[in-house]
Amino acid sequence: MQLGSLNLQSNLFLSPLAGYTNLPFRLTLREVGGLGLATTDLVNARSLLEKNHKALKLIESSPADRPLAVQLFGSVPEEMREAAGYLESIGVQSVDINMGCPVRKVCRVGGGSAMMTELDKTAKLVKGMVDAVKIPVTAKMRLGWDEQNLTAPDLARALADVGVAAVFVHGRTRQQGFSGTINLTGIRAVAEAVKGIPVIGNGDVVTPQAAKKMLDETGCAGVSIGRGAFYNPWIFQHTLHYLRSGELLPEPRFEERVRVMCRHLDLMIEVFGEEHGCRMFRKVAPWYAKRFGPANEFNKRVVQVSSKSEFYEVLEKYLQWRRQFLDENGELTPRFQPPPMVASFMQEPGVAQRQTIPVPKGPVEVW
Ligand SMILES: Cc1cc2nc3c(=O)[nH]c(=O)nc-3n(C[C@H](O)[C@H](O)[C@H](O)COP(=O)(O)O)c2cc1C
Repeated sequence: MQLGSLNLQSNLFLSPLAGYTNLPFRLTLREVGGLGLATTDLVNARSLLEKNHKALKLIESSPADRPLAVQLFGSVPEEMREAAGYLESIGVQSVDINMGCPVRKVCRVGGGSAMMTELDKTAKLVKGMVDAVKIPVTAKMRLGWDEQNLTAPDLARALADVGVAAVFVHGRTRQQGFSGTINLTGIRAVAEAVKGIPVIGNGDVVTPQAAKKMLDETGCAGVSIGRGAFYNPWIFQHTLHYLRSGELLPEPRFEERVRVMCRHLDLMIEVFGEEHGCRMFRKVAPWYAKRFGPANEFNKRVVQVSSKSEFYEVLEKYLQWRRQFLDENGELTPRFQPPPMVASFMQEPGVAQRQTIPVPKGPVEVW
């Protein structure tokens, strides 16, 4: 698929997840395959221009981490423009603008979802960025501030007019936070409002079938996946295969899940150092474990590891403990198998819903 001047290998995108979509995670996903474009966590434009250490760490990348978009937030046109120019100068392939974040800290300064409420001002700011760089500039928004103000179609059209290369839409309002079903009709309204550039749908895509349903029912050109990638790093590869062939690949085996988890840890250590990388991995490993079957023994211990050897000790003990749940072929007996994943907009009676995914704590409880 084409994103401005960028040719992407697939129409599947990694949604920014602050605190999660760091370099090791992106590299892990790229190695598994199927991903068209990955995006960083949101980065404050001003902090980036000030070369703040944390901001620079957020945009840390490597040659294997391509193509990459950096997501900026801010509301000062000069800063956003300069930050986009800086990103282009260091070889970033695309710049995304956060217009969907509902966190007070971001909205208070006029960034995030506050941008959805002031169409003209936002369009002007975005035009400044588009004119300043050759790389694609994209925008990520929600459907609107609340049910009464579904401004996304108008905003998307205004941004397309000033030259954004694509629009990403999370199918919920700012007021909804993360609760409630994804509004496919709302995403469809955005896709229909915009001509000439791709609209990418987002929200609760946790299976290949959910991605297909979103594409089919909204007319969007691609799908962006956030939390679903944490549950299942294979989601891009499996979705791409399903979209191309109609065939659903089987869920990865336990051994493959463990292999990819260990690779993720290695990358974490490479990028953040052993102790910090292992500490950060305390919140990552339980995501993998959600599909391991019984895993309380693992989850209890993995949140205490500070070194690679401690991690492998925990894993080894867990592998032995887990044996009690296996049949003679080494497979989990059916009653211990995790329930299938179901997207909010594909729930059927009798199918277990996915477990709650933690959202960042802070001034507000929701993104
Ligand atoms: C922990 C967490 C962090 C997030 N960080 C960002 C962010 O930095 N920028 C952004 O635009 N959206 C952010 N989001 C929203 C996601 O990109 C995405 O729009 C939302 O989670 C719905 O998609 P999903 O169900 O596939 O995760 C975040 C969501 C979560 C749960």
